[in-house]
Amino acid sequence: MSDSAATNEAVWKSDATIAQWVATADERERGRVWARRFMAELLPFGGEDAFTFADLGAGTGAAARAVLDRYPSSSAILADYSPQMMAEGRRGLAAYEGRYRYVEIDLAGGRWPAELDRELEAVVSSLCVHHLPDDRKAGLFREIFDRLAPGAWYLNYDPVAAQDPEVEEAWRRVEDARDPAGAAKRAHRTEEEHARWENHVRHIVPLEPQLALVRAAGFEAVDAYWKELDHVIYGGRRPLG
Ligand SMILES: C[S@@+](CC[C@H](N)C(=O)[O-])C[C@H]1O[C@@H](n2cnc3c(N)ncnc32)[C@H](O)[C@@H]1O
Repeated sequence: MSDSAATNEAVWKSDATIAQWVATADERERGRVWARRFMAELLPFGGEDAFTFADLGAGTGAAARAVLDRYPSSSAILADYSPQMMAEGRRGLAAYEGRYRYVEIDLAGGRWPAELDRELEAVVSSLCVHHLPDDRKAGLFREIFDRLAPGAWYLNYDPVAAQDPEVEEAWRRVEDARDPAGAAKRAHRTEEEHARWENHVRHIVPLEPQLALVRAAGFEAVDAYWKELDHVIYGGRRPLG
């Protein structure tokens, strides 16, 4: 295992990190309501369609919940490797009992669990792929492609890096206007917060190379379907033929 994969695993399997992450999740999610719903809307299903989708790096299930809400006959397979995140997710997903199950996967290169070795009708991921180095992003996109049914979609909601410092400055200006305490928070990170931040940003790369990796995996209709500052929803469809 690479050093960065080991660091990432230690972060996401730390009781203290998950406790802090969960305690602050509602506040972060308030700013994501629209994006969560939009990713669900992008899936090409009718409101009453019954289908099974996977949420990779599902954590406590925020992306899956939006899909389950929009499509009341859908079922989710939530895949993650953090026992703490999955335990928190089970608590928060009580209202969806019978419509979801958790499975364990290491997206850094582990074997896919048997529950996901089937023709999936959709795959989503959110705020997780950025933890993988680019060669692994590429491998993951290929593995997702191989498991999707013909015509099925993969969508990813994730942060991206700016290619131009002036663009980054504009993003930062807007973020700081929305959260006037942001600059102070950045300047006064504890050692532990700094380590988590370093882990968060380590493999965040610009949008275009990520779209290129999705295309290279074989997907069509590839686009950034939504973007606000440094957050995007991109994806594509496995061709029918
Ligand atoms: C920032 S959280 C996002 C959780 C959720 N998708 C959401 O949008 O709220 C990142 C999640 O990715 C998971 N994760 C990170 N690296 C992973 C890996 N190599 N394999 C499986 N899960 C991973 C973590 O355990 C965590 O649950």
